[in-house]
Formats: sequence, C-alpha cells, structure tokens
Amino acid sequence: MMERTFVMLKPDAVERGLVGAVLARLEAKGLRLVAAKTMLIDRRLAEEHYQLHKGKPFFEDLVQFICSGMVLVSVWEGRNAIRAVRQLVGATDPTAAAPGTIRGDFGLEITRNIVHASDSQEASAREIRLFFGDLTR
Ligand code: CMP
Repeated sequence: MMERTFVMLKPDAVERGLVGAVLARLEAKGLRLVAAKTMLIDRRLAEEHYQLHKGKPFFEDLVQFICSGMVLVSVWEGRNAIRAVRQLVGATDPTAAAPGTIRGDFGLEITRNIVHASDSQEASAREIRLFFGDLTR
C-alpha cells in the first residue's frame, strides 16, 4: 500500500553532520522524497508533536533537546513507507538498535537518537499536517 511517512532528523544528526548519511539510506531503500526543510522547533510545536509522551518522565528532556538546535523535517513516500522507515531507523534505544539500522550505527543515547519516524498511519497524517500543512501532492 502506498503510504507517506514523516521523518525528523533531530538536532544531534544535524550537529554531527549526519544529514547526508541518513537521507542516503532512505533514498537507497527506494523511498521518494516528497518534502523537506530545516527549522528550529519552538516549545509549543515540540509539545504538540510529542503530545502522546506528555507526563512521561523523559518528556521534559525530550522537548528541551528537540528545541536545542536545527532539525530537518521530511516526508517520504513508498510502499508500506511507515513500516519500511521504522525498520531502517531501528529500536528507540540506540544501544538496543541492531547494527545496520540508523540508530544502531550512529547513536548511543535514547534522547539523542538521531531520528524520529512516524509509527502509525494516524501519527504520520498528524505529523505531516503539523509540520507541512496540507501536502496534497
Ligand atoms: P522518538 O521516536 O522521537 O519518540 C519519542 C522520543 O522520546 C524517543 O524517540 C526518544 O528519543 C525519547 N525518549 C527518551 N527516553 C525515552 C524512553 N525511556 N522511552 C522512549 N522514548 C524515550
């Protein structure tokens, strides 16, 4: 099934110069880049994006980190894109993520885990709308 998914390269990926390496993996998989932009996220947007995690012990660290530097937000399209990207990204904790995955190869800390990717169709629709508005094509 053709799907779109939302991918954010977090401040650690941008600061460490990993943008090209991460995007190259998504392109190599065969996913199509639909939209992308760099931006600074403010607290209001960060809290809305991570609304499901509100109240969890790591929420404050997460919001502070995501607002701490430039991110690159993007939309990718392809067959089962949500699942395909989640597999490329690997487990949330980089020390648990398999080698060969983005987090497994580039990350060490759970907050600074390189990338965020939508985990469901509901999340992808919500996140694409939140960061890109009405992306019709
Ligand atoms: P992400 O996929 O962006 O979704 C929520 C983020 O919270 C997650 O990646 C991690 O960077 C961060 N996080 C920090 N601590 C935890 C934790 N204990 N469990 C899940 N996510 C965490």
